[in-house]
Amino acid sequence: MHGRLLRASFTLALALPIGAKVPSCVTDNDLAILAGAHVIYSWPQTVSPPDELVDLTRDGLVGGVILFGENVGNGTADALASLQSDYESSPAAAVFQRYFRTSGPLFITTDQEGGQVRRIKTGGPFLTAKQTGASPDPAAAGTTAGEEAAAALQGDNFNSNLAPVLDIFRQAKDFTDYFQRSYGNTSTIVSAAATAFIKAQQAAGIPATAKHFPGLGSATHQQDTDAGPVTLNLTLEEIRTVDEVPYTSAIAAGLDLVMPSWAVYPALDDVPSGLSVKWITEELRGRLGFTGVTITDALEAGALTPFGDLPTVSVSAAKAGMDMLLASQRNVTQGEVVRSALVAAVRSGDVEWKDFVASTKRILALRSRLYG
Ligand SMILES: *[C@@H]1O[C@H](CO)[C@@H](O)[C@H](O)[C@H]1NC(C)=O
Ligand SMILES: *[C@@H]1O[C@H](CO)[C@@H](O)[C@H](O)[C@H]1NC(C)=O
Ligand SMILES: *[C@@H]1O[C@H](CO)[C@@H](O)[C@H](O)[C@H]1NC(C)=O
Ligand SMILES: *[C@@H]1O[C@H](CO)[C@@H](O)[C@H](O)[C@H]1NC(C)=O
Repeated sequence: MHGRLLRASFTLALALPIGAKVPSCVTDNDLAILAGAHVIYSWPQTVSPPDELVDLTRDGLVGGVILFGENVGNGTADALASLQSDYESSPAAAVFQRYFRTSGPLFITTDQEGGQVRRIKTGGPFLTAKQTGASPDPAAAGTTAGEEAAAALQGDNFNSNLAPVLDIFRQAKDFTDYFQRSYGNTSTIVSAAATAFIKAQQAAGIPATAKHFPGLGSATHQQDTDAGPVTLNLTLEEIRTVDEVPYTSAIAAGLDLVMPSWAVYPALDDVPSGLSVKWITEELRGRLGFTGVTITDALEAGALTPFGDLPTVSVSAAKAGMDMLLASQRNVTQGEVVRSALVAAVRSGDVEWKDFVASTKRILALRSRLYG
């Protein structure tokens, strides 16, 4: 199954040797651009990106950007249009065309979930996920929320969303319920609302991201992966019959992206889901049949501290099957460290060339469909 996917992806690429090592015809400059496609950058404070990031974008070394509340304001639409045009004039498109016969705009994203968790305050979804799921018809309310998210994002020149949350909360005021980020406490409600959100937003041309796989809904209020390590001692049966159910429904509806959680689930592995071959390659892609793009949660998260420094966890994530790596520390240098780590790992064969190519191809297949 896996081998067949890899071969299928190569029939579309030029006749590159497929193996563990980078073929000698791939120049350092090409590899830097190909690796850059995997990195989502961020920057501090301002609406307009700093010169450092603009320069990297003009060099084609940026795969995408994530904006936070402090980056969004009246000038956002213009700033993002300008960044897209900087990227368009970069050498990236020619490199992607040469290797993959496809290309696409920068991936520009944010967290537009609903209620308090939305970075574009002038646009929807205005209801929280909890209010959406609690409405008389959660699917209809999910559709409205997805349409509102798409409109808000398009209005400011974003072309993707790191929403919806598929976590099924367990206790009032627990980690996911505290800011009302969960649609509900049953798989049925969450599947109905989230799947409708995904369909509506994607029908409007904005890819959706289901998070946080395989589910963070059982985390207590204190269990925050941004702050420190989190272990969720669920049985594999509970994960598969409760937490993963909305993924089955979302994947069947054509879900574009999945963001795994940084919690450790001992039911299957002793490293965080997003660093785990068992969770990403075997469970998500193998068992659940997801063929889209995976994007990590924040690489600076406290949950990753026991698993190595930034270059180490970036490479571990790539080896687990993660396509996009989220350098969300509002720090351009962080993105550069991640990109350099990926280049070095691909050159050394630690990340196998054939896996890197398959992953790059998934990213470009998505990006070829983006607004921009
Ligand atoms: C955006 O513009 C509106 C109306 O022009 C103004 O009221 C608001 O303060 C501005 N917001 C920011 C963040 O500059
Ligand atoms: C979900 O929440 C409702 C209302 O608080 C409660 O009655 C129900 O037992 C909960 N269901 C589960 C599966 O926890
Ligand atoms: C989960 O299990 C681990 C190891 O068995 C244990 O150290 C930890 O305290 C448990 N956590 C919870 C929240 O039960
Ligand atoms: C930015 O990221 C780099 C690389 O991880 C780190 O060395 C540096 O301390 C960070 N700067 C800030 C202001 O956080």
